[in-house]
Amino acid sequence: MPEPSAEYQNLRLEELNYNSYLRVPELLSLQRQLSDPPHHDEMFFIVIHQSFELWFKEVLHETDLLLVCLREGSISRVLKILKRVQGILECLVRQIRLLETLTPVEFAGFRDRLKPASGFQSVQFREIEYAYGLREDFFLRFFAGDEAATARLRRRLQEPSVWDEALRCLAREGVPVPARVLERDVSRPHLLDEELVAVLQDLYEDPGTEYHRVLLLEALLDVDSLFSQWRAVHILMVSRTIGGVRGTGGSSGREFLESRLPHRFFPELWELRSRVQQERETGA
Ligand code: HEM
Repeated sequence: MPEPSAEYQNLRLEELNYNSYLRVPELLSLQRQLSDPPHHDEMFFIVIHQSFELWFKEVLHETDLLLVCLREGSISRVLKILKRVQGILECLVRQIRLLETLTPVEFAGFRDRLKPASGFQSVQFREIEYAYGLREDFFLRFFAGDEAATARLRRRLQEPSVWDEALRCLAREGVPVPARVLERDVSRPHLLDEELVAVLQDLYEDPGTEYHRVLLLEALLDVDSLFSQWRAVHILMVSRTIGGVRGTGGSSGREFLESRLPHRFFPELWELRSRVQQERETGA
C-alpha cells in the first residue's frame, strides 16, 4: 500500500466520511445561477456542463497514462485504458441528448445572461483534441489572458499525440512505419500519409499471430468514432435549441460546428477502409 497522503491524514483528523472524502458540500456550492429571478432550467444547464468538465478531466487523466503505456509498449494495458475512455465517451454522447429536454423558449429565457461564455473556452475539450492529434493553434486565441490555460494547451501541442505514440510503439514492434512520420514535427498537424495507409492496411490484411496490433488500431478507431459522434449529436442538439443563429462565442454557430465534423484523429485508419474495398472491387 502506498503511504497515506498529507490530505488523507488531515481528513482522518477531521472525520473521514462520504461527504468529506468527495468534497460534496464544496461540489454542491459551485452551481451559481446568473438569471434573476432564477430560471428553472439554468440549474440543469450548469450541472450538465460541469459534469462534462469532470468527465473531460477523467479522459485526460486516462490519456496521460495511455501515453505512458504506449511509450512502454504495454499494449494490453493500452487496450484496457481505451476501453474506459470509450465508455466515458459513450456516456457523453448520451449525455448531450439530455439537452433535448430544453425547449428553444426555455433556453432563450436565460441565454443572454451567459454571453460571451462558450464551449470555445473549454480548455479541457481542446486539450483532448490536441492530445489525440488535432493540432490547430488557432484555438489558443480563446485563452488569451489565461496563462495557466495557455500553458496547458501549449504543453499538449508540444508533446507527441496519442497517434504519434501509437505509431512509434508499432514501429518498435517492427512495423515499417515511414521514417518521415516517426520524425515529424509533432507540434504541427498530422496530415494523411499514403504510405502509412498501406503499412496499416498490411497489418489488417495479414495480422498473423500479432492480432493485438489490429485490436489496438480498432480500439483507437472506436475513440475517434465516438468523438465524431459527440460532434454530430452536439450539432443536432444545437439545431434543436438555437437553430442556425450565431453562437455565444461569436462563431456562425451550426455552420461552424458542421465544418468541424470531418476532423479525424487517425485519418489513415479511416482511409484504409476505402482501400480495402477498392482493391477487392478492382481485383488489385
Ligand atoms: C443548449 C446547449 C448548447 C448550445 C446551444 C451550444 C451551442 C454551441 C455553439 C453555437 C458552438 C459554436 C461556438 C460558439 O460560437 O459559441 C458551440 C461550441 C462548443 N460547445 Fe456547445 N452548446 C451547447 C451545449 C454544450 C455542452 C453541454 C457542451 C459540453 C461540454 C458543449 C461543448 C462545446 C464545445 C467543446 C464547443 C467547441 C467545439 C469545437 O470547437 O469544435 N456545448 N456550442
